[in-house]
Amino acid sequence: MEAPLLLLLLAAVRVDAYRPVIIVHGIFDGPKQFRTLSAFITEAHPGTEVTVIDLYDNLSSLKPLWTQVQHFRRAASTVMEAAPDGVHLLCFSQGGLICRALLATTPDHNVHTFISLSSPQAGQYGDTDYLNRVFPECVKKTVYYFCYRRLGQRVSICDYWNDPHHRSSYLQNNVFLPLLNGDRPHEDMTAWRENFLRIQRLVLIGGPDDGVITPWQSSHFGFYDSSELVVEMRKQEFYRNDTFGLRTLDARGAVSVCIWPEVKHVQWHSNHSVFSSCMEKWLT
Ligand SMILES: *[C@@H]1O[C@H](CO)[C@@H](O)[C@H](O)[C@H]1NC(C)=O
Ligand SMILES: *[C@@H]1O[C@H](CO)[C@@H](O)[C@H](O)[C@H]1NC(C)=O
Ligand SMILES: *[C@@H]1O[C@H](CO)[C@@H](O)[C@H](O)[C@H]1NC(C)=O
Repeated sequence: MEAPLLLLLLAAVRVDAYRPVIIVHGIFDGPKQFRTLSAFITEAHPGTEVTVIDLYDNLSSLKPLWTQVQHFRRAASTVMEAAPDGVHLLCFSQGGLICRALLATTPDHNVHTFISLSSPQAGQYGDTDYLNRVFPECVKKTVYYFCYRRLGQRVSICDYWNDPHHRSSYLQNNVFLPLLNGDRPHEDMTAWRENFLRIQRLVLIGGPDDGVITPWQSSHFGFYDSSELVVEMRKQEFYRNDTFGLRTLDARGAVSVCIWPEVKHVQWHSNHSVFSSCMEKWLT
């Protein structure tokens, strides 16, 4: 009788052992904005170790993304190394791009589920309050002029500024997103794709009333064509060519999409309905 009892106990212990969750914040915010989300997680799954990485907060979030990726990687690695069963990565807004770059460029990561919470995964092209905080008096039509230069690329927003009317300049001068998406071929593409494909699940969350991510479909890898009509994820060239692994992941049934109306950009991480319907079930 003893052995089955022991197995039962072990099984009970395992059920309780949720994987640690690493949270990466967005632009102009920091750990402070993620207290509610951390509480949602530990209420739903008691005992979960939640780490909100405290780096590049507030205005520092404007630093170039590749620099940020290096430091976020170092912080995330500490949590990963202590988690033999892997971790979950939950990343908000700009943080979702930092996380995807981290996944692509970290060969030994053990991220199980990557939740991209209202992130401009296919880029950003829109007049928003955020844009005006960085470039007062600028309109979206003119931003490329600053962004697609060496100096511009030192501002995080420019690293994912995707102007559909200046495609060749984007491909040539943007040092971040075209490489990450494989829009501009490079020698590390195969390795980055393999690294990215170590994840078991990709969860894409966003919605039409976001108000910041433009087009909002960028949170699900959709983006504007040259007429500013939105082309959905599966029709994007990076998807069809499987340049960074998205099509493979989708073919595995490992891409989950969650769309919610009536949620503004800064509400995504603090809305309990969003948490319980789009995130909770994956954070085991
Ligand atoms: C970021 O801003 C918040 C106020 O919203 C403040 O509490 C926090 O200390 C700031 N973080 C850093 C690192 O300056
Ligand atoms: C996609 O594949 C086509 C056909 O092989 C090629 O012409 C095109 O340059 C590729 N695009 C990307 C972004 O890899
Ligand atoms: C969360 O979002 C839902 C769906 O859009 C909305 O109806 C609800 O009022 C929001 N809840 C809170 C607490 O903001």
